[in-house]
Amino acid sequence: MDRIETETLSPDETGIARAVAIWRKGGLVAFPTETVYGLGADACNGAAVARIFAAKNRPAFNPLIIHVADLASARRFAHFSDVAERLAAAFWPGPLSLVLPVRKGAWLSPLVTAGLDSVAVRVPQTPLARALLAAFGGAIAAPSANPSGTISPTTAAHVLQGLAGRIDAVMDGGAAQVGLESTIVHPDLLPPALLRPGGLPAEAIEAVLGCTLQIATNAEKPLSPGQLLSHYAPKSRLRLDQATPPDGWFWLGFGRICKGADLNLSASGDLVEAAANLFAMLHKADDIARRDGLAGIAIAPVPDHGLGAAINDRLARAAAEKI
Ligand code: TXA
Ligand code: MG
Repeated sequence: MDRIETETLSPDETGIARAVAIWRKGGLVAFPTETVYGLGADACNGAAVARIFAAKNRPAFNPLIIHVADLASARRFAHFSDVAERLAAAFWPGPLSLVLPVRKGAWLSPLVTAGLDSVAVRVPQTPLARALLAAFGGAIAAPSANPSGTISPTTAAHVLQGLAGRIDAVMDGGAAQVGLESTIVHPDLLPPALLRPGGLPAEAIEAVLGCTLQIATNAEKPLSPGQLLSHYAPKSRLRLDQATPPDGWFWLGFGRICKGADLNLSASGDLVEAAANLFAMLHKADDIARRDGLAGIAIAPVPDHGLGAAINDRLARAAAEKI
């Protein structure tokens, strides 16, 4: 990754305008929330979301939480059941993320949801975060603003320690008050499920629901995000590392050498572009392969450095499920 100049933005109107301008161009801005600092990008811009994974050096594409200014904005991206409405009314803005059905036509990048048809949404409490989100108007995808495998940042200085030179800007809004990631709840299961304990105590949620949450944070239950992730795989057979495709297969290429590929993750060999295209192209390849009765999808080799590692991780899982 090329080193870029990381700006420090002031928590005022000038800083907010600058952050919004960077987001509109597809850049990365770290910003304070009450839980931890988030590394934000426009959730509807696939290349911008791919840059989050590149900057954090994330080895896998786990789904991200989208951040919006208020409940009305959240409704543009997700469907709210009665239970979801009750939790949002009780705890938003605040450290609660709700996993909800994605609204079709919301144009979220499939990289945000890791190809799932649900999305985690939250309305952060910090006035500065809400002002930023209101000024941007859309949804900001944001994991914690730290390199993968390191401690989540609660100050702008922490963010710079880990990510200076890798992100466009950080907005300095002082220390995060909660210091723990948001609690993640799936409200539409019976009973509703706790997917990740966090800044909002489960007891407070249970008091509003009038029932006990089921705990879905262990590997046994098919609800943990890791396992949810594996639910998404094309229905077609997959073959990896196909520098030339077998006859009768759909060919998903990568790079200049794949002349004549049916689709190309990135004709120029750009891994950020490939990541941004991955889920949408797998869906499309699957549709075409099944419509045309092809043997399956043959996928070109993807280099294993940078975002290539996450792409290959995802492809390997998708292929493994077909065996
Ligand atoms: O406090 C927080 O939540 C911080 C701040 C920045 O808002 N964000 C955060 O994001 O912790 P992140 O990317 O570290 O956590 C995202 C997690 C995933 O690892 C997964 O556990 C869960 O949210 N998640 C996201 N989308 C999901 C979905 N559709 N289904 C199930 N779990 C999902
Ligand atoms: Mg994190």
